[in-house]
Amino acid sequence: MSQSALNKIGVLVSGGGTNLQSIIDNIHLGECNAEIKCVISNIADVYALTRANNANIPHYVISHKAFTSRAEFEQALIQTLDTYDVDMIVLAGFMRVLESTFISHYPGRILNIHPSLLPKFSGLNTHQRALESDETTHGCSVHFATTELDGGPVILQASVPILDNDNATMLAMRVLEKEHIIYPKCVQWLCEGRIYYKQGCAYFDNEKLTAALQLEQIK
Ligand code: GAR
Repeated sequence: MSQSALNKIGVLVSGGGTNLQSIIDNIHLGECNAEIKCVISNIADVYALTRANNANIPHYVISHKAFTSRAEFEQALIQTLDTYDVDMIVLAGFMRVLESTFISHYPGRILNIHPSLLPKFSGLNTHQRALESDETTHGCSVHFATTELDGGPVILQASVPILDNDNATMLAMRVLEKEHIIYPKCVQWLCEGRIYYKQGCAYFDNEKLTAALQLEQIK
């Protein structure tokens, strides 16, 4: 039995918000059955907040700098999110590490998108590190967030080739295009109950995923 559907989401952002926009657009197109109840940024004046405003979504700035500990910051996030009774959290370019105060409040109900083919290149500067490696492909991953940074079980990945003469900006743009496909898809799957998290593993259609799904295979 899959878990029951969850469709009220809170989105955390720190930047331009193109992933937020892709989810908004997919909802408007009827391809994603989620309802974004609120958007919270830890940074003021980022374009993601304008995107939320344009879509008439309640939006807030909760700066991590206003708190003396991560736990207090995370408690403030929870307080606002719980006002909206959200079912799940979507991290869309949210650039703060989240620890157990936050993660344990939404057990198995936090999705993150990361710009690499995890477990390769967790952390920052993924595109430059991919270029400097021997890899010939790069990409992005959607995973359930756990207290391990970029370490929760991966659900879906999409790949792009690393091209001759690539630079980090060009590579990032090609990866972002894939992010905008796989993230709304995973949000929809979570809303439908097609994916869920149990005991450290991701499940898809009630089957435990032993490896991440690949966009190229499911099309
Ligand atoms: C995206 O590439 C996302 O994968 C990455 O930040 C970018 C946000 O873009 N997230 C992380 O690096 C998280 N560790 P956006 O603001 O345009 O969605």
